[in-house]
Amino acid sequence: MDSTGNLGPVTSEGYWVEVYANLPDDGDGELIHGWIPEGASVLELGCGTGRVTWSLAALGHPVTAVDHSADMLTHLGTEPGVRTVCAEIEDMHLGETYDVVLMGSYLVHVADETARARMLDVSREHLAPNGKVLVEWWPPDWFVQTRNQEGVHGDFHLTQSKTPHDDGRLLTLAVTFRRGERTWRHDQVVRRIDLDELETSLKAADLAFGEWLMPNQRWFSATPLSR
Ligand SMILES: C[S@@+](CC[C@H](N)C(=O)[O-])C[C@H]1O[C@@H](n2cnc3c(N)ncnc32)[C@H](O)[C@@H]1O
Repeated sequence: MDSTGNLGPVTSEGYWVEVYANLPDDGDGELIHGWIPEGASVLELGCGTGRVTWSLAALGHPVTAVDHSADMLTHLGTEPGVRTVCAEIEDMHLGETYDVVLMGSYLVHVADETARARMLDVSREHLAPNGKVLVEWWPPDWFVQTRNQEGVHGDFHLTQSKTPHDDGRLLTLAVTFRRGERTWRHDQVVRRIDLDELETSLKAADLAFGEWLMPNQRWFSATPLSR
């Protein structure tokens, strides 16, 4: 992971550590806690600086938090109930299973379809027989709403623009975070997943769609197909 001037370290896909270390909690940990059994063990993929990790651990969940950025993981420190693993999700074989595998942060939209398949395989491999994978995604409609957006998020002023390409199957999402004199910009190519493709991708990983966890369909669950 390289460093860029006074903006600090950035991950290989362009996430700024300084931004994630300072984003507000947003209550995602509490939301997830409400969907899973008390004390359920969690494997969190792409944990970043631990925004969600901390709150899940504080709510009684032992969390194994995975990220390929050592710079991100530095911020997790040594919290009770939290273990960190520095690894590429796609290549990870911990030889352990968990009640819940968390695939948040829209990881499922990675542009490379092989990487998506690998992430789903890895999620399945680490899932206990009665466990579930929780996935955060953008429903297909999100890809056609291309109006620019701006707003305030904690200390940051945010702008977001979307540029579709490849007949709308891919989209470049450009996000800027401004705080005082400094602006962090992140451009990311993400892949739309239609509902039939989602079902096929889950099935290929020996997973079955479970249920929508929110009315706006931002999160869904998936369970093992075979036991
Ligand atoms: C958008 S950040 C979100 C961090 C955290 N989940 C949050 O909500 O604050 C995504 C994180 O996933 C990590 N990540 C992305 N792709 C990864 C991969 N293939 N293997 C391991 N970590 C990955 C990045 O390093 C980054 O820290």
